[in-house]
Amino acid sequence: MGPCRTLSAMTNGAGASGHRPAPVSSAAFGDDWWRNGIIYQIYPRSFADRDGDGTGDLQGIIDRLGYLTDLGVDAIWLSPIYPSPGLDVGYDVSDHTTVDPVFGKDADFDRLVAEAHRRGVRVILDLVMNHTSDQHAWFQASRASREGPYADWYLWLDPSGWDADGRPLPPNNWLSWFGGSAWEWDERRQQFYMHTFLVEQPELNWRNPGVEQAQFDMVRGWLDRGVDGFRLDVFNAFLKHPELLANPEIEGATLWARQQHLYDRDQPDFPELIGRFRSIVDEQPGRMSVGELFASEAERAVLLTTERHMVFDWALLAAPWSADAYGDAIWLREKLFGDDRWLANVLSNHDQSRHATRLAESARIADTDAVARAAAVVLLTIRGTPFLYYGEELGLRDVAIPVDEIIDPPARRALADPDFEWWNRDQCRSPMPWGAGDGHGFTTGRPWLRFAGDAATRNVEQQSSDPGSVLSTYRRLITLRRSNDALRSGTLRLAQTGSRDVLAWHREAPTERMLVVVNFADAPRDTRVAAEGTYRAVGGSHLDPAEPGTDGVLQLRSLEAVVLRAD
Ligand code: GLC
Repeated sequence: MGPCRTLSAMTNGAGASGHRPAPVSSAAFGDDWWRNGIIYQIYPRSFADRDGDGTGDLQGIIDRLGYLTDLGVDAIWLSPIYPSPGLDVGYDVSDHTTVDPVFGKDADFDRLVAEAHRRGVRVILDLVMNHTSDQHAWFQASRASREGPYADWYLWLDPSGWDADGRPLPPNNWLSWFGGSAWEWDERRQQFYMHTFLVEQPELNWRNPGVEQAQFDMVRGWLDRGVDGFRLDVFNAFLKHPELLANPEIEGATLWARQQHLYDRDQPDFPELIGRFRSIVDEQPGRMSVGELFASEAERAVLLTTERHMVFDWALLAAPWSADAYGDAIWLREKLFGDDRWLANVLSNHDQSRHATRLAESARIADTDAVARAAAVVLLTIRGTPFLYYGEELGLRDVAIPVDEIIDPPARRALADPDFEWWNRDQCRSPMPWGAGDGHGFTTGRPWLRFAGDAATRNVEQQSSDPGSVLSTYRRLITLRRSNDALRSGTLRLAQTGSRDVLAWHREAPTERMLVVVNFADAPRDTRVAAEGTYRAVGGSHLDPAEPGTDGVLQLRSLEAVVLRAD
């Protein structure tokens, strides 16, 4: 299809190791695994390092698949594994079709898919399709000439004018999420290009059919290699207004909030693009996708949710630890998504403060493990697919990173730019502590990022042998959920509890009726949940969950969450 295809067809990884991908064997839930199962996000750099260079790798993940099946997860989502200069720690991709040598070879990836499938675990890739690295061959070609086949693959514009010193002025007021203008002047082309993130992450022009075609070819390549699904990075930003109009200016607390982002994301024709993407993915059965909603509200997530395509909204993740805030978030999401749309539930990821720290701090609670155990009950018993972030099952907390060790680029910018506020995302990306001793079973080398200070005691080995640990609690709750129709797929209805610190909800399926009751207070609470029939505790945050008395009163301990089944 003309010269536009030359680079895109370059190294489409399909069949890199020359054999057909193994089918998923002994997996639970058939093609509906994405609704019924549990998805575990791996940040590959930090999970397990087989070759001892201090950075996690694919072989390391293969080594730990047994841990993941024991935990009871159905799929792993890998943060980007593609070649990258690493400026946005892998989200600046220079070739979407192959594996970064730091993680291994293409054959290692094929082996990972085969080994995961053999154990009934699906593999989900993170697709960063909104932008590329400035080192990507497409961008190199695009910036080389205003005439060539790739000239229009990125968003290029002339300056809006020149300042008194003869410097070019940006074409409009669009901003970068990582600080400053979204426009960068390119001396070679004598034009500006657009970037929502780093200067080194130029934005693709999805309105060019060649871009869409090349991206979809790449998607097909990964499907052919046996990939079971995709997480789409900042997907609602793919399309901009066709005329790249300036955003209206409004009142707001931050530079970003001082604009109504009408034209730089969330375009009305975007659902059709997702439809076209889904039809590629649906060429093979049982393949899912989940879109990362960029800087938008749950209402938008609803509009972009379709069959086998979920969307991360942030209503639950943004809630502080209180019965009120959680009740509001659960109610809002139930109301907006309704019965027809499936929810993606998440409390932590590689961009946010880890929830053991975040939630405990929001309620000024010292015992982060107690909060982590109760939050696990919420995550694993509300309606929707739970996404776990590696290490949350250990109650991992944010790690304080000294200023001279900061890697996260916007965090470095914030050090120097008083107009730009940012948190340090390195704090939630520290290496997985598998055991005690040097390298904590993660590496034999020097880890790319420091371990948590408590890694000698807070690790997989230690928590596996402690039935009361956060890890053992996750294991029990996951086992319960996987065997329980109501928890996996039942309806959700909030219940009255008579206590402002206690939140409760019913989960009901034709075969089962469950009731979940959570005490958000760091103190005991008695509660009586209005419910028909008698209920017995089958699990929860504590090893010996509270049982309702004959008077129907449930005496909950501090931060106790109980899962009950109707007789
Ligand atoms: C997404 C990723 C984040 C990255 C950004 C730009 O939000 O989750 O880590 O920095 O996109 O690619």
